[in-house]
Amino acid sequence: MSPGSAEPMIAPSILSADFARLAEAADAVSGADWLHVDVMDAHFVPNLTIGLPVVKSLHRATDLPLDCHLMIDDPDRWAPGYAEAGAANVTFHVEAAADAVATARAIRAAGALAGLSVKPGTPLEPYLEVLREFDTLLVMTVEPGFGGQEFMAEVLPKVRLARKEVRAGHLRLFIEVDGGIGGDTIEAAAEAGADVFVAGSAVFGADDPGRAVEGLRRQARGSMSV
Ligand code: DX5
Ligand code: ZN
Repeated sequence: MSPGSAEPMIAPSILSADFARLAEAADAVSGADWLHVDVMDAHFVPNLTIGLPVVKSLHRATDLPLDCHLMIDDPDRWAPGYAEAGAANVTFHVEAAADAVATARAIRAAGALAGLSVKPGTPLEPYLEVLREFDTLLVMTVEPGFGGQEFMAEVLPKVRLARKEVRAGHLRLFIEVDGGIGGDTIEAAAEAGADVFVAGSAVFGADDPGRAVEGLRRQARGSMSV
């Protein structure tokens, strides 16, 4: 799938899965587009999750493209390693990066898509030029660190701005939203212009994660404006 294809992409976040059964969690959402992997270092965010060895193992355990979301300090040093480990998309935070463009180039050189993420309080305008070096923009719709938080509709103007830039041909990006996405919120995000939807608790908290993915996809498809 390429940016702007008008097909929503659903990326279940394994942060809400059972960490002792990640391969089974991946199997349960085999109809998804990407598998979202939240890497946290207990420095950039106050939580510690998984790192490179688990990403390598997951890559062997599933055919789903891995969407690694690095919530870590010093991504310039660590991000390319995730691309080398087989991630399809490697997203890092602009707030943590020393040289976002150089890091994007290193990720792409290692064979992955490069993604830039902004926290809810980080404006987008200063990075519109830098985003020309990226494949994905991840707009956080909660404060990064934990699953199960409430969606922040007040960040949607950033999604609208990014979609406007893509429509005008200034940028070519997947526009991904992450945090609090579920049946009650995915339509607002899709209307604003998102085309990749991360969902943790709404998928892995459901009785049937595979059906939850399909339900979210249907809702997004009905509301998307790419
Ligand atoms: C939060 C993570 C999210 C999280 C989303 O920092 O980046 O990917 O897993 O979880 P939900 O969908 O439950 O808000
Ligand atoms: Zn995430």
